[in-house]
Amino acid sequence: MKLLDFRSDTVTQPTEEMRAAMASAVVGDDILGEDPTVQRLESMCATMFGKEAGLFVISGTMANQVSVMALTQLGDEIIVGEDTHIYNLEVGGLAALSGVQARPIRAEQGRFSPADLKKAIRPKGVQSAISRVLCLENTYNLNRGIPLNADYMKEMADIAHNHDMTVYLDGARIFNAGVAFNMPLAKLCAPVDCLQFCLSKGLAAPVGAIMVGTKAFIDRSRWIKQRVGGGMRQAGHMAAAGIVALEKMQSRLQEDHDNATYLAKGLASIDEGLVDLKAPRTNIVYIDFGATGRQSGPIVSELLKNNVKIKHIDDGACRMITHWGIDKADIDTVLALYKKILG
Ligand SMILES: Cc1ncc(COP(=O)(O)O)c(C=O)c1O
Repeated sequence: MKLLDFRSDTVTQPTEEMRAAMASAVVGDDILGEDPTVQRLESMCATMFGKEAGLFVISGTMANQVSVMALTQLGDEIIVGEDTHIYNLEVGGLAALSGVQARPIRAEQGRFSPADLKKAIRPKGVQSAISRVLCLENTYNLNRGIPLNADYMKEMADIAHNHDMTVYLDGARIFNAGVAFNMPLAKLCAPVDCLQFCLSKGLAAPVGAIMVGTKAFIDRSRWIKQRVGGGMRQAGHMAAAGIVALEKMQSRLQEDHDNATYLAKGLASIDEGLVDLKAPRTNIVYIDFGATGRQSGPIVSELLKNNVKIKHIDDGACRMITHWGIDKADIDTVLALYKKILG
């Protein structure tokens, strides 16, 4: 029986085309700046996002942390959403690696209120940390995947820029937002100064993330990447899969979004309290078993006995992500199971 793994889009397997491209990639020593496949990937990404330069790194976490190291000085402050990956799931890297303090703010449906953002920016003064970076995340929140549109990003970026701050975007799933708004990524990301995105989530490459921004930011980040041991020699083998991911896997994300909506509607038809059908959605379905008086633990275990994996968040909540390798028939299978378990 097929294992249906809905825990994350990070579980995706590389396509046959990626595997072939990896095997035949022309490679060189990337630390010496001699890997043509890495260079092609980096410049392709810079063009796609309308920024000056790009940098291939091993993971989204490394991209976020190297970016913050490049953009800040000890004791600076970075404003982040309270449900962001960079603040919650990166091993305290903001403090440990950059020596910055995080200023988390609430983001209702993924959005800061302009008033909250303005309030969080410190006035300059002898006793104040410097509010240096605003970090946005799009899609927002690991467990909900809320897409943020270009107008919202511009509104937030304008506020930050008016206070001499740099605007950085953790765009691990920015391709999902691009598909959700049917908008070119350069336009969607025009308001931010620099960003990272992951090749190894919905796009299904086996590894890697890309940072893009000004040439000065990327030059500094390349040096910091080396400092933290992120230099990779014949990295073109991995970059080759990234190129296929960007060329072939972006438009199919719509299928994941359709499947997530289909799943959410199916769950709501079992019990309407389970999901918020009105919430903006991409490829993530947040399930609130608690709201229907159920505990998530036993449900996760029961699904697992039937070869279905979902992500346990807490006593009441779970998350499911649709991705490459999961089709509509798989959603029907899991909905039938839910009916049996919850019915
Ligand atoms: C929003 C966000 N940022 C960053 C990351 C980190 O990416 P990686 O797992 O490649 O380190 C993730 C991973 O799930 C993520 O969801």
